[in-house]
Amino acid sequence: MCGIVGAVAQRNVVPILLQGLQRLEYRGYDSAGLVVVDQKKLQRVRSTGRVAELSQRSANTSGHLGIAHTRWATHGVPSERNAHPHLSGDLIAVVHNGIIENYEELRTRLTAQGYSFTSDTDTEVIAHLIHSHYTKGSTLLAATQATLAELVGAYAIGVLAADNPGQLICARKGSPLLLGVGDGEYFIASDMSALLAVTKRMVYLEEGDVAEISLSGYRVFDAHGKSVQRTVHTSELNNESVELGEYQHYMQKEIHEQPQALANTLEAVCNSQSLIPGIFGAEAAAAFTQIDSILILACGTSHHAGMVARYWLEEIAGIPCTVEIASEYRYRTSVANPKTLVVTISQSGETADTLAALNHAKATGHLYTLAICNVPESAIIRQSKLRLLTRAGPEIGVASTKAFTTQLAGLFLLTLVLAKQRGKLNAEQEQKHLHDLRHLPSAVQAVLKLEPAIAKLAENFANKHNALFLGRGLHYPIALEGALKLKEISYIHAEAYPAGELKHGPLALVDKDMPVVAVAPNDVLLEKLKSNLQEVRARGGELYVFADANTRFQSSEGVHVMQMPEHAGFLSPILHTIPLQLLAYYVALQKGTDVDKPRNLAKSVTVE
Ligand code: F6R
Repeated sequence: MCGIVGAVAQRNVVPILLQGLQRLEYRGYDSAGLVVVDQKKLQRVRSTGRVAELSQRSANTSGHLGIAHTRWATHGVPSERNAHPHLSGDLIAVVHNGIIENYEELRTRLTAQGYSFTSDTDTEVIAHLIHSHYTKGSTLLAATQATLAELVGAYAIGVLAADNPGQLICARKGSPLLLGVGDGEYFIASDMSALLAVTKRMVYLEEGDVAEISLSGYRVFDAHGKSVQRTVHTSELNNESVELGEYQHYMQKEIHEQPQALANTLEAVCNSQSLIPGIFGAEAAAAFTQIDSILILACGTSHHAGMVARYWLEEIAGIPCTVEIASEYRYRTSVANPKTLVVTISQSGETADTLAALNHAKATGHLYTLAICNVPESAIIRQSKLRLLTRAGPEIGVASTKAFTTQLAGLFLLTLVLAKQRGKLNAEQEQKHLHDLRHLPSAVQAVLKLEPAIAKLAENFANKHNALFLGRGLHYPIALEGALKLKEISYIHAEAYPAGELKHGPLALVDKDMPVVAVAPNDVLLEKLKSNLQEVRARGGELYVFADANTRFQSSEGVHVMQMPEHAGFLSPILHTIPLQLLAYYVALQKGTDVDKPRNLAKSVTVE
């Protein structure tokens, strides 16, 4: 989705803007642009190519104040004329993330006032509205505030004026935006990773905030125009954490980061002798005694994590759980149970559907909300009473990997804490689970050693057009996740089924051209799964079985068995995810697709 970077400094800001945009490339975009003020004139450069092309085109551009943008088209096709920044005359420049819902009405009004439009975007109305207030004598800050009062929709914006070369205005509502505080220089960005090369000190703007930034400092005003102080956070991340390093792709790097990401997420628990509700926030202990059920809301991969958690929560904690796709739930008339804990799961914490589902849940009378999320200070974190931060670090590859496994770890902790509180976990069981969690990072490390063998296996997939993934019980959502990974980055059509469903329809698809991937842990459903796989083999389907040790699967003609190092009990879904991520990755490599930025997809889906 769209990205914003801005800077005011005593040096040329163009390299800062371009480096920031490069850091935001992972979010997905189809055009990019920047504008700087140079001798009280706006210099704008735009491109429908990569940021590298924008960089070449900007070779002769410089200035001490600038804003830049990567655009993921919503209103208007991807083209240079629709790329940001948008200008009003030679005076005002604006970059914008989000959607202005009343832009048609504003456009009609502004056209009647004599403004002409050069793009099909909703953003251009913002530039003209600011222009209309500014040229009537308002300050840039007041002109922006007056404009925001007229907008309906979501936005994060950066604004500058040619005749005001020392000042940058920015604002947010519904889309993330933060300030970066340097030494005598200041920055804005939609995502912290864009600024890590220039500062680690960040100020997260809150809903409705507007900030006025200059070389001498910044002031933040809340939605009512009142001057407010916002905390300066020092990021734990460094620039290297968003560098590719020795890896070929971010996805590969992030798959390999999983042992550390899990260790970081579980740190507080693994260093302690017992599980306490406080890991979900100070109010968790009291809230957990009030609840009688769980409702999980999420999208995509995060939804799959929720599906696994349902098995854990019902079996281990004995608490009823439903899991729903956020984009469906938000529009459904549902019956709220005020004693339900609403759990949202999100890597980005900004997914529009998940955020809307959370607000819908609250509006229908749900009282208890918990976010499991990877981005501190994100909207979903801020809008939930209870929270658990997964500490996966920045996830740059569009296909979610380490975020998923750390979400699972977080959901397992929730299960254990609730189980303990409900008297379903004795001291011995608690210690056993803690032991297994401490061992989890090294268990994942052992699975990663399968990488060369999986890379070899992937060669058989490159010329396939379809694939079927099978799992049972806890591992059915893992089959879904494996299929999603494969289709996202290799563009091979893949579907997942609970293996018992095979003969109720999908078996008709099976022939020698249909690879069938089976997740085969050593659990109570193993023998049933084996019978399901016989049904596939009998129809000529080629089997790829990811089997735990001691499952007695043998490779033979048409049956490729990949032996997992161990069976991890309840944590098995986390281990079984890893080979499927690697499979998708190596199939995509074979096919030569853009692994980190698959077509049509964006990292944080901040629009509906
Ligand atoms: C798939 C993927 C998406 C996201 C989904 C939700 O690999 O990354 O399906 O899981 O868009 O995003 P978050 O977790 O940021 O809410």
